[in-house]
Amino acid sequence: MYAEVSTYGYSRRQTPFHRPDGTVFHVKPLTRSVRRALLVVHVATSVSWLGLTLGLLTLGVTAYTTDAPATTQASYDAMKILANWLIVPVALLALVSGLVLSLGTPWGLARHWWVSIKLWLTLITFVATVFALRPTINQAAVLGIPNTSLIAAPTVASSAYFFMTAISVLKPWGPTRRGRRHRITTTSRAASRTTSRKLVDERSSTPTA
Ligand code: HEM
Repeated sequence: MYAEVSTYGYSRRQTPFHRPDGTVFHVKPLTRSVRRALLVVHVATSVSWLGLTLGLLTLGVTAYTTDAPATTQASYDAMKILANWLIVPVALLALVSGLVLSLGTPWGLARHWWVSIKLWLTLITFVATVFALRPTINQAAVLGIPNTSLIAAPTVASSAYFFMTAISVLKPWGPTRRGRRHRITTTSRAASRTTSRKLVDERSSTPTA
């Protein structure tokens, strides 16, 4: 379990592990080993997602700039394999592991700007990947004609995943309004519990006449 004062700046009693108020959903807190394992899965899958889109970008640029129609066709065929077999499972794992990590730790889903922004960006890019990028790649593999949107889409996606990697490591912008409210509530609850415990201790140690 977490140390008395965790890396998140909450004391153990203040964490949502003990006070679920302010959480969007209440999920059982993750144990230290589960959280670590999940973090490894999360970083591996989400950074793979970035790598995959860089691969798609390389193939999209090759298909568009080459003078050989066979290379264009081969590049779109390779993009089709990556898009149909890898992108969706990798993106889903990154999303689900991120959701569980958020809900099962004091980070929460809506308490810190860097987590909220990542959540919305991931949802938007996931939907765009499934409903726009994959169909466009499949169509390009059938037609074999150079297509600029297969350069634009992986460029935007790679930039988004790079940005998300950066904010995950730097964790900028602090808590959201909900996060601040949650901290105030848990801090004052912890303080009042300590005060009442002290009063009880004092009364029980005062000798009665
Ligand atoms: C492409 C999408 C994503 C990328 C590239 C990404 C990347 C990362 C990286 C590199 C870390 C490790 C940061 C560190 O330990 O210093 C991390 C941690 C984390 N991510 Fe993501 N992430 C993505 C999506 C998500 C989503 C959708 C969520 C949930 C809403 C999420 C929630 C979290 C949380 C809560 C942590 C901290 C876990 C902990 O320390 O216990 N991530 N992410």
